[in-house]
Amino acid sequence: MAATARFQFPKDFRWGTATAAYQVEGHGDNADWWAWEQAGKIINSDSAAVCNDWWGGRYIEDFDRMVELHNTHARISVAWERIEPSPSVWNEDAIAFYRDMLTALRDRDIVPMVTLSHFSVPIWFLEQGGWMNDDAPVIFERFVRKVVRELGDLCTEWMTLNEPNGYAVLAYLAGDFPPGHESLTDTLKVSRNMFRAHVAGYHAVKAVQPESFVGYALAIRLFDPDRPGSPLDRWAARQQFNNFNVAWPNALRDGVFRTPLGNTAVKGGKDALDFMGLQYYTRDMVRFDLSRPNELFGRRFFREDDELSHTGFIANYPEGMFRVVDWARKYGKPLIISESGVEDPEDSLRRRYLLQHLRHLWRAVNFTWPVLGFYHWTLVDNFEWERGWSQRFGLYELDLETYTRKARPSASMYAEIARMNGFDNEIVARYAPELLDELFPVK
Ligand code: BGC
Repeated sequence: MAATARFQFPKDFRWGTATAAYQVEGHGDNADWWAWEQAGKIINSDSAAVCNDWWGGRYIEDFDRMVELHNTHARISVAWERIEPSPSVWNEDAIAFYRDMLTALRDRDIVPMVTLSHFSVPIWFLEQGGWMNDDAPVIFERFVRKVVRELGDLCTEWMTLNEPNGYAVLAYLAGDFPPGHESLTDTLKVSRNMFRAHVAGYHAVKAVQPESFVGYALAIRLFDPDRPGSPLDRWAARQQFNNFNVAWPNALRDGVFRTPLGNTAVKGGKDALDFMGLQYYTRDMVRFDLSRPNELFGRRFFREDDELSHTGFIANYPEGMFRVVDWARKYGKPLIISESGVEDPEDSLRRRYLLQHLRHLWRAVNFTWPVLGFYHWTLVDNFEWERGWSQRFGLYELDLETYTRKARPSASMYAEIARMNGFDNEIVARYAPELLDELFPVK
């Protein structure tokens, strides 16, 4: 089929992938997650002992894959537990490792963005109370300063925290992540301390490297009332949205972090952000439910007719991408889609999911909304936290016996998209012909 129409992205739009240290490096035995694995908390007794073996040097071949993908950017993270194995003790090998990694990216003309804390924390930090500890922001700030001093000549783009809003819920309310608490008050305390840590971290990066570009990554989930005519469902959906998504960006307006249990004014918190990372995967429907006070009286579920990912973790709701950008733009910061993707071992949904989401992102970008780029989650199948290896988010498939990687069709599609800086009907015809009528309606 001849190419006749194209979804074109603006010049300099970033195309990348996102990864996180604990999920790809392996050999991370100073981490809370390692202890969590030893306690038998990972599905199917899966292990992060080796992962993608980046610590063993296989990041080199994966960075070559980024080149194959025509990617201009990459989001990686550093493992705090590796760099600071005990309080204020710095591991020079770990620092050298990350210097090598950043150099390898730059040698490939790929611009790195480094997340300073992506979920895993040192065991000693958790033993001191983790993010519940009111001193956590100061402890984190010390780490941030060290990292930016050591790596700042190789990287100027940083994220302080990955999805603090999602993390607080998973680790302190749902109990799925270490330390496995199930308490709303703990969750809110952790959220507040993480906001304080972000602010401290933001200013620490700026102090060491004034020219830096610093943000955080928010997990954005959409919540829609199951019965739009029901005021109670509407109220419950709004509660979910506000509590999950809104507290963080709202706090930038005046430096006050607001929770249902009280407000905290954080010095320096106003405007402590250069860009906002948005990580959008899915949308929940919400019904008012009096029996769920811990979930703010909202029962969440996917719609019956939703197209679900392999393990039912994600419902494909591409329009959400447009809505998320529309919502976030009012904060007046540049936006980056710092994660988006779907678990799909057979690659039967990913191509469609990716094209549909990019189409809605294209709409937003072409309204001149300030989205700088898109980082696909993820490059190669990785360790998906308590879900272990049961979920496969990679453009490349990982063989866990041999550690060899194999490109899924989505990888070559993503490479074509990055090279073209968009996609046309010919790409859609080749990779997801079922979308032709939807994306290029004849009528
Ligand atoms: C996290 C990643 C995770 C991905 C898919 C995001 O919430 O930042 O670490 O692997 O979702 O589950």
